[in-house]
Amino acid sequence: MRILIQNGEVVTASDQFTAEVLIDGEKVVAVGQNLGVTNADKVYDATGHLVIPGGIDVHCHLDMPFMGTRSKDDFFTGTRAAISGGTTSIIEFCIPSKGGTIKQALADWDAKSAPKACCDYSFHMAIVDWNEGIRKELDSVFERGITSFKVFTAYKGALMLSDEEIFRLMLEVKARGGLVTAHAVNGDVLTVLADKFGAEGKLTPHYHPLCQPGYAEGEATGRILELGNLAGQPAYIVHMTAKEAVEELVRARARGWESLGEVCTQHLTLDDSLYDLPDFEGAKYVMSPPLRKKADQEALWAALANGTIQVVGTDHCTFDFKGGKDMGRDDFRKIPNGLNGIEERMSMLFSYGVKSGKIPMTKFVEVTATNPAKIFGLYPQKGHISPGADADVVIYNPNKEGVISAKTHNSACDYNVYEGWKILGAPHTVFVRGKVAYENGKFVGEAGNGRFLARAAGKPQLAMV
Ligand code: URP
Ligand code: ZN
Ligand code: ZN
Repeated sequence: MRILIQNGEVVTASDQFTAEVLIDGEKVVAVGQNLGVTNADKVYDATGHLVIPGGIDVHCHLDMPFMGTRSKDDFFTGTRAAISGGTTSIIEFCIPSKGGTIKQALADWDAKSAPKACCDYSFHMAIVDWNEGIRKELDSVFERGITSFKVFTAYKGALMLSDEEIFRLMLEVKARGGLVTAHAVNGDVLTVLADKFGAEGKLTPHYHPLCQPGYAEGEATGRILELGNLAGQPAYIVHMTAKEAVEELVRARARGWESLGEVCTQHLTLDDSLYDLPDFEGAKYVMSPPLRKKADQEALWAALANGTIQVVGTDHCTFDFKGGKDMGRDDFRKIPNGLNGIEERMSMLFSYGVKSGKIPMTKFVEVTATNPAKIFGLYPQKGHISPGADADVVIYNPNKEGVISAKTHNSACDYNVYEGWKILGAPHTVFVRGKVAYENGKFVGEAGNGRFLARAAGKPQLAMV
């Protein structure tokens, strides 16, 4: 099938120009003016529209066992939501159970992803125990094309590793050419503060962010960046939320340490006043690290605009309000942590970043698609519109108005943290490897169409200092 997209404004991480895009089968085969194609099977007139690479969300949790329950969106509803928002590849976290093996975790994640994924996907491998058995399994992880790892400095007693364990892992990963990513908040500080609030009977969602103050995130961020530097290994900080963490990233780069950072849509747009909503509604926003102050949002937007932070992800990890979040009605410590974003990331960033003048269009493409591909070994197959790349292409209507609502979203979750937010800009047509998967406001993709993406080891293909 040959598809010609005409009259659109192609946007890459560095340029914006009017051009035609020719897709043949699963690949982009030509980009240019007046390609002279006369034998296309289908022609799309993209007048007034942008033509951008499909988004890559490198931070999501689908069908994940967590905090005594499971995240609600599975690989079908999660990737359906992703595609409907203009995202055509995801990287999910494969998390071994405590005391379990990587082999078992991979078998579990393969079983729940392959039959259901509607778009391409890969896994980061979470390391939640460090022992000789896990160390010996690392080669097999790289052989599968999984080259990025995740550690937690928080969730004490569950996912948290010690500095020694993280440093040992970093050395092993460096030797194999991979990347270590980290959830960076001081887990000991968090535990002490949560215990203290618990003992004082302070158990409403209001206290959730107070257990994880910005300085506890800044401390752990600085520590991870320093361990990365000691290991001679770039470190990537996931879901950065606090200005103190941003300051650490700036400091690390100024010292010449290779360092990378990610922010999620919710931390750019929502703030901690939401924890005080009546009727336990604040629980909808409980995630870790928590929503923070407007001053933190400003620091995050500035860091995104000036390149200190390179990626926008979502940490999409949904739990119904009823039967999920309300497990913690009497104690915020039992509220499953997480919220939605996989469908809203592109439109929220376009509306509140590009349209409001905080970032240019090229930066939008850079942080939603190109940098994720360059950092996680998918470039130039993904994240860019050029001959030879996968035909993950979005015809994007920059003037489409909408209002986000759980009534119309594609997630399976019973609420949406952006309920009532107005958006300006949305996908019109989404191609996943050349196949239309979303058109005219409707998901038309297929479960099982997504392929596992084996990724290349090697350094991120962008500047880290
Ligand atoms: O609250 C969150 N972020 N839930 C998902 C797990 C994680 O820490 O990323
Ligand atoms: Zn996390
Ligand atoms: Zn996460």
